[in-house]
Amino acid sequence: MLNSAEKQTKYEEVSKEIIAVTDGENDQIALMASTAALLHTHFAHFIWTGFYRVSNNERDDLIVGPYQGNLGCLHIPIGKGVCGTAAAKRQTVIVDDVHAFPGHITCDARAASEIVVPVFSKNNALIGVLDIDAAETNTFDNVDKEALESIISGVFQS
Ligand code: SME
Repeated sequence: MLNSAEKQTKYEEVSKEIIAVTDGENDQIALMASTAALLHTHFAHFIWTGFYRVSNNERDDLIVGPYQGNLGCLHIPIGKGVCGTAAAKRQTVIVDDVHAFPGHITCDARAASEIVVPVFSKNNALIGVLDIDAAETNTFDNVDKEALESIISGVFQS
């Protein structure tokens, strides 16, 4: 496991790469796919890295978007699970132990902790969430939150 300083440095490197790769691109699926691929390949302890998208379907569910990892759930209702909670609150949610989170939705039985970061468009509309899972408890902290929020706003809002 990386210590805080190593994690910070790694996020700075990954962030530069993500911003360089996505510069000038406006297609949201291309942005999500590239961000998920780069985060997932640079952090060996991320077992699932990807997006759920806000959609105007009849159930108002989040629908799975580009991701790396084992098969994910296809739909998550807003307000349910960690992803739906982050979407409803429009705030990042860190879960140290998914088994202690009421209503956690299990897609990959290996997942023990997770972070979900809301994704906003240039006009501040919620367009989805970034969900990252790890196989150990207590994986994500404020370093992850700040770095991921900064990457996400850099990719989707600039
Ligand atoms: N655990 C998430 C569901 C998505 S997967 O982990 C890929 C949740 O509770 O929202």
